[in-house]
Amino acid sequence: MYNEDLRPQKKVVLCEDGTNTLYSKEFDEPYHSTKDGALHESLEKHVKPSFRIQKNKDRLVILDICFGLGYNTFATLHYIQKQKLTTKVHILSPEFDEGLVRTLKDFDFPPEFDSLKPIIRAISQDLFYEDTQFKIEILLGDARKSIPKIKEKIDIVYQDAFSPAHNPLLWTKEYFADIRAICNNDAILTTYSTAAAIRLGLYENDFLIFVHRAEMMRYSTVASLLMLEELEYIDMELKKIRNTEARSMRDEEYV
Ligand SMILES: C[S@@+](CC[C@H](N)C(=O)[O-])C[C@H]1O[C@@H](n2cnc3c(N)ncnc32)[C@H](O)[C@@H]1O
Repeated sequence: MYNEDLRPQKKVVLCEDGTNTLYSKEFDEPYHSTKDGALHESLEKHVKPSFRIQKNKDRLVILDICFGLGYNTFATLHYIQKQKLTTKVHILSPEFDEGLVRTLKDFDFPPEFDSLKPIIRAISQDLFYEDTQFKIEILLGDARKSIPKIKEKIDIVYQDAFSPAHNPLLWTKEYFADIRAICNNDAILTTYSTAAAIRLGLYENDFLIFVHRAEMMRYSTVASLLMLEELEYIDMELKKIRNTEARSMRDEEYV
């Protein structure tokens, strides 16, 4: 399923928003949509909708799947600082590519992350960072093994694995069951995937499904354990009637 020999092989790719991402030889795809842009995608598909929905909480626990270049984590910190929020944030982020995290102190990130340089350096060196507002932990190893061991209750999941076709074990019904088990009862999940199979896997684990639209961005999915009035609701029972072929992905098909 995974190919550790290919893992170190990556090349830098410039996205249309002017930010850099990487192309992974192992997964044969870029870490971000080069069209939507690494920083733009992080902010618009994950950070902004999450903070809008969870705005009433003064402490948030975020599961960032998976760390990669850390854009989702760093964009979260950038957003909090820019909006002058006092929200305390604990980010847990599985990642099995330790070599990548170790190189991030030298990666050419956008100027928006300049003030985060000491944090980026600390994470790259120690895989951990903590101050009075932020705590960031990289959970080194396979996400399927580290997620069930998480003791914290999660408020927000950034579901940003490589695509279901190339990284299927991070999109199955059983994977989403593990995620559901560590979620608070008002948790939300953001993802770029709009595929019926992925939405079904979430729906079969108690998540309600919504469309998220942002400017200059393809639409994406927000899943929530509670009804959200502000987003466009998708009736999955109706979808199942209209698309009788649709099935959630299952572990047994990929192991
Ligand atoms: C699309 S990238 C994540 C991009 C990241 N969110 C960012 O903003 O830079 C997917 C990441 O998942 C990691 N990954 C894939 N399968 C994994 C697994 N089973 N356990 C841990 N990490 C995994 C890859 O090494 C890669 O860094």
